[in-house]
Amino acid sequence: MRVVIEREAELYRLAARRIAREIHAKPGCVLGLATGRTMIPLYDELARLYASEGLSFAGVTAFHLDEYVGVAPDEPGSFRRFVRERLQQRTDLRPEAVHAPDASAHDPAAAARAYEAALRAAGGIDLQLLGLGVNAHIGFNEPGSSLASRTRVKTLSDETLAANGEGLPAVVRQRRLAITMGLGTILDARTCLCIATGPAKAGAVAATVEGPVTASAPGSVLQLHPDAIAYVDEAAAAGLLRRRYYLDAEARERQLERGE
Ligand code: GLP
Repeated sequence: MRVVIEREAELYRLAARRIAREIHAKPGCVLGLATGRTMIPLYDELARLYASEGLSFAGVTAFHLDEYVGVAPDEPGSFRRFVRERLQQRTDLRPEAVHAPDASAHDPAAAARAYEAALRAAGGIDLQLLGLGVNAHIGFNEPGSSLASRTRVKTLSDETLAANGEGLPAVVRQRRLAITMGLGTILDARTCLCIATGPAKAGAVAATVEGPVTASAPGSVLQLHPDAIAYVDEAAAAGLLRRRYYLDAEARERQLERGE
């Protein structure tokens, strides 16, 4: 896994540049979109690239990583509303090109299977954005998730409910089920870009990057991915044993990219 340790502002700038590079290379690319506080500055930076540097999302297709079961698309706290307000309405990303699991479906398990099929029909994900839960979950793949899992309904853990509930309306806070892409689904993305900031994520980052590959720390499955990049700030990198090595390796990697 490529590990990029940077100050927060620079980290988001670099992650947004990586996404812009993807879109420039393949204007019709398929992006996997994540939500959560970590994604807010990233979507701000993408909106800025759209407004001031002409980055166009007009050809992009997007798939949500996950959604709470039973939450209507317009409800405050719904992931669909998050993406609509923070990315889609601030860029030229077409509303009809943004796909999400049908979380209000009568049969959520069937909706999850249909979503997986829609993903496949779209040719799979080129670049998947990921945040990291404090328990090292990605999407809503809680500890214990099968490393080969596909999109399905998952029960949320108490720690995830506590971490994500802040500021949300009670009706959303009480949701215990979500539809999430599985770990196997995420591994099928051609590139995975995982972002974590702040001291609360230090343990999850260490488990994801340096821990054993285990269902107990679902993010660690990214170690099996051929093109996964972790963007972490200094606080989130605090638990990494090979921190100095990553800084050195990244400096050399960038030299190579500049052709030096
Ligand atoms: C939720 C989402 C995850 C996200 C996580 C981290 O659980 N399902 O995709 O990574 O929150 O959230 P935050 O960025 O707010 O810490």
